[in-house]
Amino acid sequence: MTATIIDGKAFAARVREKVGVHAARLHSEHGLIPGLAVVLVGEDPASAVYVKNKGIQTQAAGMNSYEHKLPADTTEQTLLALIARLNADPAVHGILVQLPLPAHLNADLVINAIDPAKDVDGFHISNVGLLGTGQKAMVPCTPLGCLMMLRDHLGDLSGMNAVVVGRSNIVGKPMAQLLLGESCTVTIAHSRTRDLPEVCRRADILVAAVGRPEMIPGDWVKPGATVIDVGINRIERDGKSRLVGDVHFASAVQVAGAITPVPGGVGPMTIACLLANTVTACCRAHGLPEPEGLTA
Ligand code: GUN
Repeated sequence: MTATIIDGKAFAARVREKVGVHAARLHSEHGLIPGLAVVLVGEDPASAVYVKNKGIQTQAAGMNSYEHKLPADTTEQTLLALIARLNADPAVHGILVQLPLPAHLNADLVINAIDPAKDVDGFHISNVGLLGTGQKAMVPCTPLGCLMMLRDHLGDLSGMNAVVVGRSNIVGKPMAQLLLGESCTVTIAHSRTRDLPEVCRRADILVAAVGRPEMIPGDWVKPGATVIDVGINRIERDGKSRLVGDVHFASAVQVAGAITPVPGGVGPMTIACLLANTVTACCRAHGLPEPEGLTA
């Protein structure tokens, strides 16, 4: 038996549609247009592509997109002054500083200068603390997208064994917090975990977020498990450049109950959830009801 393929591309399109409907209602009923400011420092080509896509999708959802492209040698003072302006701008409901930043800039300092209510990445220390204590937070986009897909596929997650492989601040740790919030029994595994295959085999929900191509083979997957592959790794195979996940898809799909493919799984959900967070931030800023199904 092969696994159900969880179609992240279609799911993300539905999320963007819901965002668009909510944005249109905010406009018609309250005269509000949610606004997302994206700050890009330097010339990293992958970041430039992400930022362009964010801008296109933000506008397609009927929201305002403000792009701030700064040179690679921008000083911390200049960047902090821009963030202060965006914090004070009532037309801006969400602020995202594209990472990685050039090495001379302190990313923690910069992220923590963003107004937590506008921190649509959910990286500000206040949002990390709110999420960790089960309070209303802005939730990082990729884990939020994974949670939406898990809820959609499995319904109630309570009591399930969830294993998150990877302990990054952007994915692994917030993903674990969200799963704990769903009353899963959560294990965070990482490069020092002893007997990783055995730990993975206990997972009803296996989230792979390590950034190592095809590291998790099918025989680490419990039969019937739901596998969420966050990895997006570019490799050369048969003389061609390809994208693969952290899970070895061809073997895992034979064992899992459901699995996200790469590409077309988690990837498209990240920007969709960024738009969702921007609408949520706009609603919270104006004391309006939040969009249903677009928050954690
Ligand atoms: N760089 C790669 N992914 C992300 C993300 O989700 N947010 C930000 N700010 N930078 C990134």
